[in-house]
Amino acid sequence: MVEDVAGRLEGLVERLSASGWLTRERVAAALRDVPRHAFVPAVAWSGEGDRVDRATAPEGWLDLVYRDDAIITQLDDGRTDVAAGSGRFTSSCSAPSTVVSLLELLDAEVGHRVLDVGTGTGWTAALLSRMVGVENVTSVEVDPFVSAQAAENLKGVGAFPRLVVGNGADGWEEGALFDRVHATCGVSRVPYAWVRQTRPGGVIVTPYAPGFASSHELRLVVMPDGTAVGRFTGYASYMMMRSHRQPPWPASGEGGTTCTTPIDPRTIGYAPAGADLAMGAFLPGVNAQGRHEGDTYVLRLWSEQAWATATYRPGQRVHEVRTSGSLNLWEEAARAYFWWVGQGSPGRDRFGITVASGAEAVWLDAPNNLIGS
Ligand SMILES: C[S@@+](CC[C@H](N)C(=O)[O-])C[C@H]1O[C@@H](n2cnc3c(N)ncnc32)[C@H](O)[C@@H]1O
Repeated sequence: MVEDVAGRLEGLVERLSASGWLTRERVAAALRDVPRHAFVPAVAWSGEGDRVDRATAPEGWLDLVYRDDAIITQLDDGRTDVAAGSGRFTSSCSAPSTVVSLLELLDAEVGHRVLDVGTGTGWTAALLSRMVGVENVTSVEVDPFVSAQAAENLKGVGAFPRLVVGNGADGWEEGALFDRVHATCGVSRVPYAWVRQTRPGGVIVTPYAPGFASSHELRLVVMPDGTAVGRFTGYASYMMMRSHRQPPWPASGEGGTTCTTPIDPRTIGYAPAGADLAMGAFLPGVNAQGRHEGDTYVLRLWSEQAWATATYRPGQRVHEVRTSGSLNLWEEAARAYFWWVGQGSPGRDRFGITVASGAEAVWLDAPNNLIGS
């Protein structure tokens, strides 16, 4: 195979540095030492239509592997052959910029004991092994087939971290206390087991996506009182932990009570990340999803007890709202949105969260300024 892995790898490191994702030498050294192509299947698929077979196009395959794109490695929890090219993305080799971003936030030192949640291809477990020492890394994956493939990939680069098949939401009790928890699947709430299994002063980084549209990068520090406190540091696009996925839109989403609103539903549906955090805090357990149907935009809101739709159609001055259940979710979402506007439309970086046993609470600017219900 004609290949210039070193050149492509260096190119990736340079691009990640130039774009500001990569700033720490320790993370750069791990990227250089752990070749990403050892974790990518022979038919690589970026999920955006780019699909390259190493056997027939080795150069193109390497180009794809060393681009800043996720490579999809599983569809529909393994029920659909990944070669089919369409289905729900359920495992991947994450995009280098998002991987680097979480690793920089993690701030792991040599000798730190690290719990990696969502082994996937094993790439992040290998990077962490390089950063803290392989004997200090435990990586948990829910899917036994994915974990077995990761073991093969890791063997290929001579790295043997502890691999555990199980529900990463439970952490790994036997390995506690950890210095760092590094999750590469999104959660809708932070599993308290991670906090309990991390020493005071230890750090947890995770993609966090409660029901309201946006997905956030979260960095928590564990406190001596057994809580964890931290801020939302940026955008994070990750596949969700299996048990934390959005529940389906209720099949009974027909009927309901109809009224109108002068508020354009896109105001809520397109709201920025800070507003999503506020709405999520005021409406815990509520999911939001916007759908375009031609020129029409439908915002869906739903929880276990209620649902609502708000529909924008071009040229209309008022918009149809349908609601059903014990709470008018449209009104509640609009109330939370305008609360956020009244606070000066704070950005994501002004919000944080405190995680305690059995509860988590979002705050604005400081942990004593809790918001929501
Ligand atoms: C984006 S991939 C992880 C990428 C990976 N770190 C890498 O380097 O390739 C997310 C992974 O989380 C796994 N996952 C989903 N739910 C999980 C759970 N409850 N516990 C552990 N792993 C889970 C998925 O099966 C998937 O392999």
